[in-house]
Amino acid sequence: MCGIVGYIGERDATPIILNGLKRLEYRGYDSAGLAVLNEGNIEIRRDAGKLNHLEALVRNTPIHGQIGIGHTRWATHGEPNERNAHPHLGSTGEFVVVHNGIVENYLTLREELSAEGTRFNSDTDTETIVHLVEKFYASGANLEAAVQQTLKQLKGAHGIVVMSSREPDKIVAARVGNAGGVVIGLGEGENFIASDLPAILEHTRRAVFLESHQMAVVTRDEVRVTDMSGWAVEVKPQNIAWDPVAAEKGVYRHFMQKEIHEQVRSLTDTLAGRVDFDEGRVMLHELGLDPQSAREIRKIIITACGTAAHAGMVGKILIERIARIPVEVAIASEFRYADPLVDEHTVVLAISQSGETADTLAAMEEGRSKGAKLWSIVNAIGSQAMRIADGCISMQVGPEIGVASTKAFTAPLLDLYLLALHLGDLRGAIDEDRRFSLVQDLMSVPALVGECLDREQAVAALARKFKNTRHMLYLGRGINMPIAYEGALKLKEISYIHAEAYPAGEMKHGPIALIDRSMPVMALAPNDPWYDKMISQIEQALARGGDVIAIATDGDELIADLTPNILWVPKTPWLLSPVITTIPLQMFAYHIASLLGLDVDQPRNLAKSVTVE
Ligand code: M6R
Repeated sequence: MCGIVGYIGERDATPIILNGLKRLEYRGYDSAGLAVLNEGNIEIRRDAGKLNHLEALVRNTPIHGQIGIGHTRWATHGEPNERNAHPHLGSTGEFVVVHNGIVENYLTLREELSAEGTRFNSDTDTETIVHLVEKFYASGANLEAAVQQTLKQLKGAHGIVVMSSREPDKIVAARVGNAGGVVIGLGEGENFIASDLPAILEHTRRAVFLESHQMAVVTRDEVRVTDMSGWAVEVKPQNIAWDPVAAEKGVYRHFMQKEIHEQVRSLTDTLAGRVDFDEGRVMLHELGLDPQSAREIRKIIITACGTAAHAGMVGKILIERIARIPVEVAIASEFRYADPLVDEHTVVLAISQSGETADTLAAMEEGRSKGAKLWSIVNAIGSQAMRIADGCISMQVGPEIGVASTKAFTAPLLDLYLLALHLGDLRGAIDEDRRFSLVQDLMSVPALVGECLDREQAVAALARKFKNTRHMLYLGRGINMPIAYEGALKLKEISYIHAEAYPAGEMKHGPIALIDRSMPVMALAPNDPWYDKMISQIEQALARGGDVIAIATDGDELIADLTPNILWVPKTPWLLSPVITTIPLQMFAYHIASLLGLDVDQPRNLAKSVTVE
């Protein structure tokens, strides 16, 4: 999705904005631009394509100024070309805007403005915003009030940042709804604005996050947050602990590869401070649960999208098996319109790495409106899904840059295991011995992930063998069925190879007709309670001439006799096996995409944070 960066201070805004936009490249975009205010004039540079186009443009025709705003655009209205790229100027050249979100009523607004004589220079919905600001300013409002009046005209969710040569000492930023965040980074004699933290972390660790229906008037020395009527809102700056170096690629070819390899650390961090191995206990103080409130829960609905939903499917099995609470998994984009059966004894648990996914936020709101308690498992600190929840388990994985989620998939798997243990303990659903042994099982998980990572060469070899396939089937059962879904999603999103996943037992009801030499089958057959069923599935696929790649547990001679294509994983307690079996699948997808020379970190048509419906 689109990215926003703004700067006001004593330094040259241009390199600060360009650098900030670079840090947001991972969000996906197709054009970029910036505007600076220089000696009373707004100057703009924009270009289609990647940021290096814009950088070249700025090198050839430099612009400088101490206040500016920039944007990376992911086209929604109008082609991804120069004239549709942000920032957008008004008719007088005195107002300029960048925008995340969709102006749902832009056609009506455009018609009205055109009837009043406004000429449009782009096909975007965003341009209506700057013309409205200009119009309200002309009728006597100051910049802040003009932005407020403009936002009242817009339907939809928005993050906007506005600058004007008429009030050259400030930038006005506003957020309405969940079209991505607006964060203000606080400096000394300078301040920063961004849609996401990575854009400003190299300059400051103190930040204020705008809530929906808040705006900020940002000058060099002051940040004033108000509601949409201009009433001051008291905000507490947060201190951010992320290390900007962690957002660098380091020795890896791609962020995705780096992030796959970071999982030993991210999973260690996930357990840190939450597990007392000596006592065999889990501590999730962030949920504020006691035995009474834990017993009052009658149902948990896990809601999420994409990879996060696959984590939720594993979570269902963990919570039902360990805590004995019924769990439903609801795809957020469906749940929000499903008129779900939810009451005050229901917990709606959202999972989201970005914490800004529009469908997931809407699903949370749906749960809230029906009286449910809201929990979330979120990576992006300060994001909406973190803030609106009654309790949030924070993923301890740091920024995830690759669009394909990897470390932000395995962390919630462990978080859900911890949650299941915590609930099971509080509700008395597990006895002390079982609790102790389930907690001990966690101890080896980071090291087992490390063992899988050490086998990358073997995975790369199989990737070379199968890189030219056009279709693949992924099969799993029980707790590894969601991992089949996740493996297939990883392959299709970064390699563009058609991959479908099925619960293996469904094969005989139709999909088995697809199997022939051109349809390799990835079969998840680790040593878990569904192992025998998977063996019979592998045999059926082989009998129909299909190539089978098996994920199998070290030492499994039976599978070794069936197929030469094996991704070996170390022996793992079955409730934790998804964390382990997913690692070779991540590496397999990564190596295929990388061998095909594709843009692994920014696959086509995808964005890191899906803030539109
Ligand atoms: O930010 P979220 O976790 O809410 O995102 C949900 C999905 O959009 C995301 O998992 C998507 O499926 C990824 N591209 C998966 O790699």
